[in-house]
Amino acid sequence: QVIEAEGMMVLPGFIDSHVHFRDPGGTHKEDFLSGTRAALAGGVTTILDMPNTQPPTDSRAHLQEKMAQVGPKAVVDYGFYFGATDNNIEEAASVADQVAAMKLYMGSSTGSLLVTEFSPIFRHFSTFPPNKPIAVHAEDEQSLLYFGAQGSTEHNRARPPLSAQIALSRALAIAEKVGRRLHIAHTTTQRELELIQEAKQKGVRVTCEVTPLHLFLTEEDQQRLGNFGKVNPPLRSKSDQEALWRYFDVIDTIGTDHAPHTKEEKMQPYQKAPSGLTGVQTMLPLLFNASQEGRVALSEIIKRCVTNPARIFGLQNKGALEVGKDADIVLIDPQQTYEINNEQILSKCGWTPFAGTKIKGKIQQVFVRGQLAFEHDTCLAQPGSGRHVSYISR
Ligand code: NCD
Ligand code: ZN
Ligand code: ZN
Repeated sequence: QVIEAEGMMVLPGFIDSHVHFRDPGGTHKEDFLSGTRAALAGGVTTILDMPNTQPPTDSRAHLQEKMAQVGPKAVVDYGFYFGATDNNIEEAASVADQVAAMKLYMGSSTGSLLVTEFSPIFRHFSTFPPNKPIAVHAEDEQSLLYFGAQGSTEHNRARPPLSAQIALSRALAIAEKVGRRLHIAHTTTQRELELIQEAKQKGVRVTCEVTPLHLFLTEEDQQRLGNFGKVNPPLRSKSDQEALWRYFDVIDTIGTDHAPHTKEEKMQPYQKAPSGLTGVQTMLPLLFNASQEGRVALSEIIKRCVTNPARIFGLQNKGALEVGKDADIVLIDPQQTYEINNEQILSKCGWTPFAGTKIKGKIQQVFVRGQLAFEHDTCLAQPGSGRHVSYISR
């Protein structure tokens, strides 16, 4: 097969290791077809889906139901996280080889998954296979009202919230004690990165993620965006944003935390509106543009969006453009410029916090496992052409 690519740049397909595609249970916000189409349009050829669906992906049966329901819709390759609860410790360990990682919410967010007590956290950390990452959401609640609005189950109300730093320190300490792998989702502050850097220097097996949201937006944008900038963890100060770029070496992965909510849901009063913003379609364009502006080397982007996620989550056949790996390829025209707008967004909710952002570098074609899947703003891949990833056993 010959690909005409004159004047194009050839990139490996990106891996978004943090998306919420809302299938099952929230398909009015997103389903696996709309979510994976948005991914494809954004040059993301593999996604890892979070467990805070309805029902949550917190048992073997729920995982199997989810696989059966979403597989026939996928147009990119996909894997799943398993959601930790207070009492699914043995079950989580027994399905570990079928998932990318465990997700453990140490602070409540959209959905009801939450584990804040020391004992179940410790038991999960010591029982889940030590070489499979446990990804933690180690964040404080935005406010007690927020807590009431979203994680509003009896179970969650009975649990006092942990502050972000206490949650993070606790996760690092337990991971060190039991010698397991730990992945910190959406780090946003200088303090978190300092703690993680220190832990890495001590030999703790920890990796961490930032989102394009926190790399490119600040609390000033939140003023302008209103609820369309409401996310957990919240957009931070300019100085924290700058720290993310300064500590770029400490950061292992960039994941979008693509968390769609409908316009109607977002247009409710602030306290009622759910947290979460879209991102799967805009990550590659924003990061490619940043590399074109000389902010960061493209190779450093590829490391955090392709190589490292494949390694950390043990994705077989992914992670490099080389013989023996899947031919997941993005062709991008580095000269073409455009402005991001809501009409381009293929996510069901149809909006992006990056509307109005000018981008240099336009995605022309996307190949998934060698098949042309997306070309000239059109999705060619058939639902069901995406495959469940295989994991390197460990
Ligand atoms: C996410 C969601 O809506 O699922 N929301 C968010 O604000 N990031 C959940 C999460 O990742 O915490
Ligand atoms: Zn989270
Ligand atoms: Zn998330």
